[in-house]
Amino acid sequence: MQEPKAYIENNKERILNELIEILKIPSISADSAFSHDVIHMAETVEKALQTAGCTYTEICETDGYPIVYGERIKDMNLPTVLVYGHYDVQPPDPLNLWTSPPFEPVIKKTTLHPEGAIYARGASDDKGQMYMHVKALEFMVSTDSLPCNVKFMIEGEEEVGSNSLVTFVKENRKKLANDIILISDTGMIAKDVPSITTGLRGLSYVEVEVTGPNRDLHSGLYGGAVANPINILAKMIASLHDENNHITIPGFYDNVEELTKEERTAMAEAPFDLKSYQDEIGIESVYGEKGYTTNERNSIRPTLDVNGIWGGYTGEGAKTVIASKAYAKISMRLVPHQDWKEITELFSVHFKKIAPKGVTVKVTPHHGGQGYVTPIDFVGYRAAERAYEKTFGKKPIPQRSGGSIPIVALFEEELKSKTILMGFGLDSDAIHSPNEHFGVENYLKGIETIPYFYQYFTEMSK
Ligand code: BES
Ligand code: MN
Ligand code: MN
Repeated sequence: MQEPKAYIENNKERILNELIEILKIPSISADSAFSHDVIHMAETVEKALQTAGCTYTEICETDGYPIVYGERIKDMNLPTVLVYGHYDVQPPDPLNLWTSPPFEPVIKKTTLHPEGAIYARGASDDKGQMYMHVKALEFMVSTDSLPCNVKFMIEGEEEVGSNSLVTFVKENRKKLANDIILISDTGMIAKDVPSITTGLRGLSYVEVEVTGPNRDLHSGLYGGAVANPINILAKMIASLHDENNHITIPGFYDNVEELTKEERTAMAEAPFDLKSYQDEIGIESVYGEKGYTTNERNSIRPTLDVNGIWGGYTGEGAKTVIASKAYAKISMRLVPHQDWKEITELFSVHFKKIAPKGVTVKVTPHHGGQGYVTPIDFVGYRAAERAYEKTFGKKPIPQRSGGSIPIVALFEEELKSKTILMGFGLDSDAIHSPNEHFGVENYLKGIETIPYFYQYFTEMSK
């Protein structure tokens, strides 16, 4: 194989500009006001796949946003890599905290990225990382070095729960048949510390509504004599953790997989600096479940977090009122063996049970998914390991991530193949936050590493 490095260097400007162009499309799946842009984004991805060398592409309609499919089949006797990614992005708000508009990408130099980082919503999650695969294909096709078959499946609803993809995968097992699934939608430990994500947490996302009186009340006339839904909701939420920050929902930990001492020791060997972790997000101290380290808390332990809470008067000035209703959105990150539907049910039963007289509680499940762990002793992992070694000059560290890509567990169930998570993002990329960015070097390193994965995977599969 020709060196991808030289190809990337020669085409650098164009490879960067193409990403900048697709980052201009506000493909926000959560907000229906942007549905035209989401669809425009799907069409753009299809064209990019065609240009890069897919010989067959298709925009697959679903009940929601379309799934873009593409393939280049060389020989049915060769292995097939299925690339998954998503072209939708998170809403960019709060807009006033962005230093440049979220859909007007610019390259800025930072201390961590002296060569520059692309600032835009979706730069790292996931347009930039998804596009690395398109450009890697372009390199392999144009240098006649694609060693195997490749299929692409790029969806537009990842950030809202991948509902349509579930049906699509179940109905298209044959079309999606593959030997390995390759995803770049996670991160790595540091720019010069490559790692392969070997686990993802599951998720259960619910919304709760607490109702008190049938209308908003004067907080003087009624205050003290009726249950205030906001006070009650706050109390109920507070009771979901005990003094050790364990979750109090009965049965919540029943199926949690406890890691062995050896596994925990191996985890603790990954480079981690608590001080810079704290400094980077501006906190004086970490906080969490007793008995576990920060890296354990954010990867191998389940969590319960309020993502939003509202009700009553939040406008300017003051209004004396007891609201009729209070609401919260709550996410629970789950670990392997916890079943997200079971946990949703346990939460629901418990939350209703702890409600005092004087309020009623409604729990609405949103979406969820199972966690995932990949083994490190199979050809997919070993091929990825060699690819990183080739381009970074060091062995990547296996690392479990705290984030979720719920669809990955379903891939294994339905398509019977394993997933390799080759993420090139960094925690500091600010995904889902204002000022999301993706290092130019991370982006280019990704494009350089992917073709080696194809090469080694094909060789090692023989
Ligand atoms: N790419 C992220 C997940 C991720 C990021 C995993 C970094 C590991 C490291 C994905 O787009 C995402 O945001 N997933 C959601 C879940 C989804 C159901 C909305 C998440 O983790 O909150
Ligand atoms: Mn993502
Ligand atoms: Mn995301």
